[in-house]
Amino acid sequence: MSHLMSNYLPLDVTFSSGKGCWLTDDKGQQYLDCLSGVGVVNLGHCHPTITKAIIEQASTLLHTSNWYHIENQELLADRLCSVANMDKVFFGNSGAEANEAAIKIARLHGQNKGVENPIILTANQSFHGRTMATLSATGNSKVQAGFAPLVSEFIHVDFNDIDAIKTFDGNSSVVAVMLEPIQGESGVIIPDDDYLNNVQSICNSNDWLLILDEVQTGIGRTGQFFAHQYNNITPDVMTLAKGLGNGIPIGACLTKGAASELLMPGTHGSTFGGNPLATKVSLSILDVFEGDNILDNVNKQSAYIHSQLSAALKDYSAVKEIRIKGLMIAIELNVDCSTLLQNALDDKILINITGNSIRMLPPLIIKKDEVDIMLEKVIKLINNASQ
Ligand SMILES: Cc1ncc(COP(=O)(O)O)c(C=O)c1O
Repeated sequence: MSHLMSNYLPLDVTFSSGKGCWLTDDKGQQYLDCLSGVGVVNLGHCHPTITKAIIEQASTLLHTSNWYHIENQELLADRLCSVANMDKVFFGNSGAEANEAAIKIARLHGQNKGVENPIILTANQSFHGRTMATLSATGNSKVQAGFAPLVSEFIHVDFNDIDAIKTFDGNSSVVAVMLEPIQGESGVIIPDDDYLNNVQSICNSNDWLLILDEVQTGIGRTGQFFAHQYNNITPDVMTLAKGLGNGIPIGACLTKGAASELLMPGTHGSTFGGNPLATKVSLSILDVFEGDNILDNVNKQSAYIHSQLSAALKDYSAVKEIRIKGLMIAIELNVDCSTLLQNALDDKILINITGNSIRMLPPLIIKKDEVDIMLEKVIKLINNASQ
């Protein structure tokens, strides 16, 4: 009997090593990883620059405390603020923690304005994490089931429905709007091109904070370093995690302007957050992005995948929609998907099934010959499912 709690239901496979886009199981069989540990291992498994950074930092200093200055943390904050055009950073260890910081900042913004019960607007079908506040922000009743009472004052509106947000125009209890630029966990839901711009306009005119959860979309996943850069906007608050550590736990909450002045000494913290090891790894990830034209590869492979999938699947009645931005890919089917995960595993490819969509988040370093293997296996999977 396993002594692990039953909150996960793992597939029957154990991986023992990885390199680039490939994982090897304990029987020596190779799998093409088209999920990247759910959008985490963006630079592939055991990237040599990251491995070197881990070894060097682990042999120098792992942890002190945020009670002392941490040089790597300050360097990383400088570089993140520079690429994001933002002002300040708080470091935690996960996406949920980054979002907790964002939610606390929104509450403080409300308190400063004398708002008694500050409301945060979030979206239906969103995902923001599993802590009490972030699951309350999440627009999915399955994530919330059993955990009442939820943290109050989150109001969920339909994603990509600007009118739903406009109905709160002038409502002085609202303090923030919190959104994923593209909804990841609910199956790569891409809003209209100007949706975020319109949300930002409403936020600006009402003095609401625009909080963008880029935990999944950030660090190059969509073909821009941050997904909101497609809109030429800067949010008041942005959260990051996943690809920021490539497997080493780290989360970050970045702020711009007045939102940067809200967390004061003693109001928030984390024992491990931003420790010398995690921040060194993130610095090395930024180095790789700068040196290796990662975004060019994302955009090149994305265009190729899009054209290949569109051509190959155009006559499939089982295919409802293909959604792709950078290397966030979903193929929505209108057939039963319940066996697809296991079928894919049997064919040595790692994907995810979200609702009725096949979701793929391959490493951003994936090469054309690996993309061809991915396409061949996925088309075969859909072919079999359509029979
Ligand atoms: C958009 C988004 N926000 C937050 C989270 C939570 O991140 P973590 O699991 O690191 O707490 C996730 C995880 O999938 C996510 O996709």
